[in-house]
Amino acid sequence: MTRILKIGGSILTDKSRPLAARPEEIDRIAAEIATRPEDLVLVHGAGSFGHIPAKRYGLPQNFSPEGLRQTHLSVARLCEMVVESLGRAGVECLPVHPLSTAMLRQGRIESFFLDPIKKMIAEGIMPVLHGDVAMDASMGASIVSGDQLIAYLAGKLQSETVAVGSNVDGVLVSGRPLAEIKRDDLVRFEDDIGTSAGVDVTGGMRGKLLELLELADRGTESVIFHAGKEGNITRALKGERVGTRIVRSK
Ligand code: IPE
Repeated sequence: MTRILKIGGSILTDKSRPLAARPEEIDRIAAEIATRPEDLVLVHGAGSFGHIPAKRYGLPQNFSPEGLRQTHLSVARLCEMVVESLGRAGVECLPVHPLSTAMLRQGRIESFFLDPIKKMIAEGIMPVLHGDVAMDASMGASIVSGDQLIAYLAGKLQSETVAVGSNVDGVLVSGRPLAEIKRDDLVRFEDDIGTSAGVDVTGGMRGKLLELLELADRGTESVIFHAGKEGNITRALKGERVGTRIVRSK
């Protein structure tokens, strides 16, 4: 059984400044992942490495080959930092770039070449994916967020745990994290659940929640937790209670 962990770009980078990685945070996260790396697929967000170039070139609405190249190279650089840090922490891992493995339609994953990911897991190597630009059958190209990737992969890999590390304590209502949320609750909390601070082209907390509610509807529950607080990633990987659980409507 695989497990999926997403670490938001807001934890790995300063989302308000271009190319501002947080190397100490990346190393801390790698050390926490190293406590329980078995059968784990890591997906990380793009943070300022993705959202800022994407916005500069008007992606995904505007088709720009130069924008695609610049944005991809930028997020691939962040991925390289994460992979190097995990390697130093003793975790065998390899980068998997969605640009080269996914095909989208209307911004949604239509097909994905999963064989390398499955083989890596079988060989004890952690695949590391990230939010990326990708070719799109109807739009030329679009953006695939880490949240869309985890929802897709969790279904295809039949994951038992899906943990989404963000820079807030979960789904906040009046500043406090809900213990759990299901689709039926969405209308009631609509006004509280906003988009994220800083530059975000993939929908912030609302976009994240919609992906995870869809996943819950298909039978896989998940958790959104604060990955910037030391120890939380380790806790989430052990299946301990952290943050807000995204559960299926009864
Ligand atoms: C966005 O990825 C990808 C690009 C902008 C190219 P995410 O949506 O997963 O990134 P974060 O977690 O919000 O930073």
